[in-house]
Amino acid sequence: MAERSSRVAEQVGEYYDDIGELVELVGGNLHVGYWDSEADRTPFLAAMHRLTAEVGDRLELRRGQRLLDVGAGVGEPAIRLAQQYGVSVTGITVSAWQVAEAERRVIAAGLRGRVTVRWGDAGAQPFPADSFDAAIAFDSLPSAEDKALWLAEIHRVLRPGGRFVFTEYPRLAPLTPDEQAILHGNTIHDPPAGLTPVVNMATAAGFEILSGADLSDNVRRTYDEFFAALAEQRQTLASVYGEERIAMFEQGITMVFRLCQAKIGYLVVSCRKPSDA
Ligand SMILES: C[S@@+](CC[C@H](N)C(=O)[O-])C[C@H]1O[C@@H](n2cnc3c(N)ncnc32)[C@H](O)[C@@H]1O
Repeated sequence: MAERSSRVAEQVGEYYDDIGELVELVGGNLHVGYWDSEADRTPFLAAMHRLTAEVGDRLELRRGQRLLDVGAGVGEPAIRLAQQYGVSVTGITVSAWQVAEAERRVIAAGLRGRVTVRWGDAGAQPFPADSFDAAIAFDSLPSAEDKALWLAEIHRVLRPGGRFVFTEYPRLAPLTPDEQAILHGNTIHDPPAGLTPVVNMATAAGFEILSGADLSDNVRRTYDEFFAALAEQRQTLASVYGEERIAMFEQGITMVFRLCQAKIGYLVVSCRKPSDA
């Protein structure tokens, strides 16, 4: 329960501190979007909210429950889940910038006291055992240096019978060492080889698996939508944040997102801590 973090967690925190205000490009949603099919014309922002709903629905939340959001970003999914289900949410992130930005967003949403995002490392969580009714790790587990440790911590702080829903970025094709280095530099560590190893990892941590879904085809449009949004807002962003910062951001994000588009998929796994655990 100590307030400590690994070197990787510190690097992840620095990465998100650096991105900072650029989260506005995606409306504060640091996750992919969801489309039913090629024919689905849902706009990018709505598609990201839709994925929050897709993932959040699997928690089967009830009014008044306490939800833990592991890797909460700037609190956008936490705010939406609190509004939709009447739950209270505690989020953790390793980015100090995100903590401050999440507080601003929570106050703007009128949810002070119901949604809190604080600094905390998922691998050494600052909560006693059995603290939460449900937990979500929405596009955060890919950043874990030690995924088994995160899962063990989530299992510890979840009450018996509590649900846990998480997403993962599996590799869809072999990755070269250079590609692994690009992913690593962008906080994606060791993509699993598919659903089976992910399910096995959650089972080994003591969870009962309820469902596992491969949404790779539903989220892939995210990358083209992101590039279009960046192109559209680039000039404004450069005038506000400086050409150099935007050029560096653009270069880095283009490299990693092109790679994700080609070789990384998307999984959603729903599980439960057994009632007798
Ligand atoms: C891709 S963002 C997802 C944010 C949010 N779930 C969303 O969907 O908008 C990944 C998040 O995981 C957090 N994260 C990464 N490593 C972490 C760690 N060791 N402990 C806590 N949070 C971590 C990052 O700080 C960031 O907030």
